[in-house]
Amino acid sequence: MMRRAKISVIGAGNIGGECARSIAMKELGDVVLLDIPNKDKPELHMPKGKALDLACCGPVENFDAKITGSFDYKDIEGSDVVIVTAGVPRKPGQSRDDLVAINAGIVKNVAQNIKQYAPNAIVIVVSNPLDAMVYVMWKVTGFPAHRVLGQAGALDVARYKTFLAMELGVSVEDIQGLLLGGHGDDMVPLPRLTSVNGIPVSDLLPADKIQACVERAKVGGGEVVKLMGTSAWYAPSAGTIEMVEAIVRDKKRVIPCAAFCEKEFGVANANGGKGLFVGVPCVLGAKGCEKVITFKMNDEEQKFMNESISHVKDLIAVTTKLLPEVA
Ligand code: LAC
Repeated sequence: MMRRAKISVIGAGNIGGECARSIAMKELGDVVLLDIPNKDKPELHMPKGKALDLACCGPVENFDAKITGSFDYKDIEGSDVVIVTAGVPRKPGQSRDDLVAINAGIVKNVAQNIKQYAPNAIVIVVSNPLDAMVYVMWKVTGFPAHRVLGQAGALDVARYKTFLAMELGVSVEDIQGLLLGGHGDDMVPLPRLTSVNGIPVSDLLPADKIQACVERAKVGGGEVVKLMGTSAWYAPSAGTIEMVEAIVRDKKRVIPCAAFCEKEFGVANANGGKGLFVGVPCVLGAKGCEKVITFKMNDEEQKFMNESISHVKDLIAVTTKLLPEVA
């Protein structure tokens, strides 16, 4: 009999809880929800409570998944996939980059524990500022780059497609599109490669309407933060679980993710000869990022990509100042 996948979720907050729920609903594997104790209320055990609440959805929603909550990293032993959502979310007025001072240290600590307890896992980082936090994860774990990924493109392209579908009045299922670059406001949606079942979007919408969808996608996370006072969680979790599913079912899906690039898309050229993690189309399967797919961008797209890479580069510089050991 095949062993069930074990998927650990570090950070049992809004995104972590929703990830656990989706994993169970899709029966992708058993889930360990891990968080830290609440210092002010030591009598509480939030991850255990959330796991219990989620487990009791099983009989109603017809899923069969073991969901457990823990404060102890030992419980992530043997994980096939570890999702990292730990860290603080955005407040209104904050950019993702504003979180680096707090989240860099948190992600470093999480990475040390993953290295110790789940050394064979594929890691998907969701914590912000995303591209820099994936870099910290890679450096601290020392894992091969194909086992360290960042979730951003899956979410950002979903937002882009949603806004286009709203504008066009067609089903989101019929929009194809791609988006590259960092998970910041200078991410790079690609209208040239966007279609409605193969019909170029430029044949269906005027340029200013397409551009409005591009701009809305770029600040899509911020739009939710302004409305809710905190970061989004449903769509970020959906994007994450799309990646998890591709991995545990070895689907070879092509999903934009933050993956380690050197020559690809001119990354090393734009980054002083060094590679970094940035959003690119990846083939996701049982080994993690099995391939980065490249293609020729036009000059304008490459210019936007270079700007996004340069932003990620600056962010890594800030991060390595805070954590010189990951430089
Ligand atoms: C967002 C956060 C999760 O884009 O990065 O909503």
